[in-house]
Amino acid sequence: MNPLFPSPIYQKRRAQLNAAFSSGTALFLSNNESPANYPANTYHYRQDSNFLYFFGLSLPNMVGVIDFEQNRSLLFGDDFTIDDIIWMGNQPKLSDLAAHIAVDEVRPLSELASFLKNKQVHFTPPYRADNKIELARLLGKNLEELTPSIELIKRIVALRELKSPEEIVQMEEANEIGVNMHTMVMKHCKPGVAERELFGVAEGIALGMGNGTSFPIILSQNGQTLHNHDHSLILEKGRLLVMDAGAENVMNYCSDHTRTLPVSGKFSPLQKEIYETVYQANMAAIANCKPGIQHIENHRIAVTIITEGLQKIGLMKGNIEESVALGAHALFMPHGLGHQVGLDVHDMEDLGENFVGYDETIQRSKIFGWGSLRMAKTLKPGHVITVEPGIYFIPHLIDIWKNEKKFEAYINYDKVEMYRNFGGIRIEDSVLITENGHKVLGSHLPKSVTEIENILQS
Ligand code: GLY
Ligand code: MN
Ligand code: MN
Repeated sequence: MNPLFPSPIYQKRRAQLNAAFSSGTALFLSNNESPANYPANTYHYRQDSNFLYFFGLSLPNMVGVIDFEQNRSLLFGDDFTIDDIIWMGNQPKLSDLAAHIAVDEVRPLSELASFLKNKQVHFTPPYRADNKIELARLLGKNLEELTPSIELIKRIVALRELKSPEEIVQMEEANEIGVNMHTMVMKHCKPGVAERELFGVAEGIALGMGNGTSFPIILSQNGQTLHNHDHSLILEKGRLLVMDAGAENVMNYCSDHTRTLPVSGKFSPLQKEIYETVYQANMAAIANCKPGIQHIENHRIAVTIITEGLQKIGLMKGNIEESVALGAHALFMPHGLGHQVGLDVHDMEDLGENFVGYDETIQRSKIFGWGSLRMAKTLKPGHVITVEPGIYFIPHLIDIWKNEKKFEAYINYDKVEMYRNFGGIRIEDSVLITENGHKVLGSHLPKSVTEIENILQS
């Protein structure tokens, strides 16, 4: 069985959800095993994070139910049979599992459909094909008739987004694993080493210290591709290596760090100028993280520093405030400053980004670049967010914008051409909002030019 919090924590979470509803029933389907190439050969199992939050158990073939009218919780599932036990070893009884999470009742799965009959059933947006089909079957609907409950989504976001002290302990642990992954890669990064080998080093640490990675590792000298999962190159002197990677700890809490390394051990003057700009953007945005600040303001700080830095280098020009407002910087940083992190690396993204990062006080921008910001709303104590500015030279995007003469008043395309093969730089940390300010999670991971060069050369 996976490690769990003490049972009153799950009871309290379900009671908090229950308190927001006077009628209806919430339904949480576990994730099931997912076949890779034949039914019995499955991918690494990952429980649904809403199920983990309210019902804790990291096991397939279960359904958690919170009956709002009767203020009780039920676990639907079936005990393992002797056929299962022969292959899997002895397994806990469902009633024992249920006791660990203090649900009121356990029932066989075969009773679920009739239990739900004529009830108002709230559910979150299903994202796995098998669960979509199962949900439709249980509710007697067609797939296209499945309508997730906005009320449930909003209430879950309100609960899950504010991390409790015991969750922060878990987040710290996940971040320590992440720091280990990145530190080990820094120690092994040198010309001639295969990207794939470093990928294996990082993946191995995530598996050895926790529950594996929190998302597929991004590790590439072609860091201009934001989520580059190709690891086929050999490290070359003079190039930059971007690694964006995180871990899940054994309780499925996630980390997310990015560092950019000069393969030779020393940044070239050109690389150093760009790196310093991204570093200043990262540091200034983190410094401004505190309760009451909208994270979109931290995004604005970061892209303003990036615009200023690129102007100093001669890549951008013109009025900085206007340039930022219009989104000219998005040629170089097309993504947002960050997102929430928790039981998912992009926390609660299954519930819908706009419910997680936006609210009635702030709407997602339609402007390219600004519109990619996942978390914009006001920060509160307990939020964990990433701060991940970057500068990239994306040849395809440069060509399109240049041909369209887009933002010619703000971009020096002739100079940009000289950086066409530069690659990309991103620097990312995860930040907990505290009562008075913030804390960067995990031990300090080398980040300044000097720190990075020192560890690479040690
Ligand atoms: N892991 C991708 C990101 O940093 O959002
Ligand atoms: Mn990341
Ligand atoms: Mn991130």
